[in-house]
Amino acid sequence: MRTRGVFITGTDTGVGKTWASVAWISCGVERGLRVGAMKPVATGATRGVRGEWQHEDVIRLQQVINLEETGGEINPYCFEPPISPNIAARQAGREIRLEAIRECARRLEERADLVVVEGVGGWRTPLSEQESVADLARILDYPVILVVGLRLGCINQGRLSAETIARDGLPCLGWIGNGLDPGLDEPEEVIATLRRSLPVPCLGILPYVSTPDFARLAQALQEGFDGLAGRP
Ligand SMILES: Nc1ncnc2c1ncn2[C@@H]1O[C@H](COP(=O)(O)OP(=O)(O)OP(=O)(O)O)[C@@H](O)[C@H]1O
Ligand SMILES: [Mg+2]
Repeated sequence: MRTRGVFITGTDTGVGKTWASVAWISCGVERGLRVGAMKPVATGATRGVRGEWQHEDVIRLQQVINLEETGGEINPYCFEPPISPNIAARQAGREIRLEAIRECARRLEERADLVVVEGVGGWRTPLSEQESVADLARILDYPVILVVGLRLGCINQGRLSAETIARDGLPCLGWIGNGLDPGLDEPEEVIATLRRSLPVPCLGILPYVSTPDFARLAQALQEGFDGLAGRP
């Protein structure tokens, strides 16, 4: 396993992978590490003011890393429709090549202490007819962190995801709970149930924030990040 990187997956799309990745990167930057990032496959790109393609996740990651990265390094595959990557790639007549993503990550590793890779969708999100996000994490050879979006249904989704990662034989460092739903009933009970039933440790619980307060989110991960010290 290559300990220079970490692969951030989630229980679903829209559960907080980007926000958790930004917070994790901030922890590394605060510790004086050189931190790079990748969003290898992004769908739902939009046009910027000069007509260039841009993606919200990539912009957020770019804002917080302390390493110079080209757009191609941080995001080798970008598609306009906000749909599953296998469909977006097929429509665009492109093939998502996992080896190309790995080469990119290895180049970043040469100049980074830590490379934080945000997945796309969830663990079984297809990248082609044969390959899924799990295959991407495997080829990168990075340990996984699972982001659990704390909303109704998340106990089931969290257990399914964590159990599947383990069954796939990939090392999982732990899970991060993300309080994205301020209306969730009995959040403490939900978190306690997750703590008891997921097979990996909790690395932190991100609070609900009404504005993107990444300093506050990073604070919530500091202990979890430092607990993994020596294997960033
Ligand atoms: N801790 C939080 N507090 C408040 N809102 C949050 C929080 N985390 C996430 N959100 C909201 O949920 C949205 C989705 O979060 P995020 O973009 O991190 O999810 P994602 O898993 O990366 O999604 P995608 O699958 O599109 O990459 C954010 O844009 C934000 O509006
Ligand atoms: Mg994201």
